[in-house]
Amino acid sequence: MDLSVEQLHHACRRVIVIVNGKGGVLKTTTAANIAGQAADAGHNVLLMDFDPQANLSEDLGVTQAGTGDQAGAPLFDAFARGKELVPSHPQIRPRLDLVGADKDNTEALITWLTAQMSEPRGELALARVLAPIAPKYDLVVIDLPPVVKSVRRAALAAARYLLIPTQADISSLKGMRLIAEQFAQARHINPDLQLLGILLVLVGESATAIRKDVRNAIAADFGTAEPMFDTVIRHALSPAESARKRGLLAHELETYVPSQAETFQRLRQRAAGAQVERAVSSTAVKVAADWAGVTEEALLRIADREAVERMEP
Ligand SMILES: Nc1ncnc2c1ncn2[C@@H]1O[C@H](COP(=O)(O)OP(=O)(O)OP(=O)(O)O)[C@@H](O)[C@H]1O
Ligand SMILES: [Mg+2]
Repeated sequence: MDLSVEQLHHACRRVIVIVNGKGGVLKTTTAANIAGQAADAGHNVLLMDFDPQANLSEDLGVTQAGTGDQAGAPLFDAFARGKELVPSHPQIRPRLDLVGADKDNTEALITWLTAQMSEPRGELALARVLAPIAPKYDLVVIDLPPVVKSVRRAALAAARYLLIPTQADISSLKGMRLIAEQFAQARHINPDLQLLGILLVLVGESATAIRKDVRNAIAADFGTAEPMFDTVIRHALSPAESARKRGLLAHELETYVPSQAETFQRLRQRAAGAQVERAVSSTAVKVAADWAGVTEEALLRIADREAVERMEP
């Protein structure tokens, strides 16, 4: 059955896309941790990976992610063969389903989507794929590759919410202008698209002055600074490396931080000449709290906006 554009967008009313054309600004880490924490808090969540690098699958512990494991096949089949979308990794955590990526299938999907962009309403391809299954979830979170225009257009044409992780340096802030333009463009076909929030990431210890600059830049590009999340994600390389290496999310890694007694024990073993694997840094606890803060803010914002919509005639 063909759904109208309004019906497609109604079905996708809990879809969040994580966007930034810049590489390495924690898009994937944001998608994984918000989805993981929301699932942990009791929500049913679907995570979707459109990046042939398959970092999202890696972050969730899929071994050999992206290397010919065919994780991207269900997504390719849903787009190019019209099959119903099924998660490649159902219940990868309790209440969390993953639609994964792999190099071959996801590259083929990107080629297919790029060709669709010249078809009438081609950019609604993702909305059509999502409409039958999105209503089964409380939240659908989409992770994009940094530079593929066609996938970004399809994601912005489907989603209700846009979440932008960004660093605070000058070139990142210039990149925000570009996203603001794409956002405005996408609203022609998807008038429901809203900016859920801008998330400042990789923030150093003393960032108050930087935050003010960012607020001003955002106000200039989006007309308001209100969408900035209060929570920021601190720069903490060691926990991030441990998390991706072990395929654990920030709040899962937290449980591997050794107690003081365990730390003393390790020091004694090392002093005695034993090979002791490096422990997970205690900063992991703080990083997990950062992600918990962002997730809570994101869920509250969605609840607030839905409450306002219910009151509108
Ligand atoms: N809090 C943090 N502090 C420092 N580094 C981090 C932090 N969180 C994640 N990282 C690391 O930053 C790198 C980039 O993160 P991520 O893959 O999420 O970015 P991305 O925007 O998805 O990149 P791409 O554009 O390649 O898709 C990864 O190696 C990740 O482990
Ligand atoms: Mg990524």
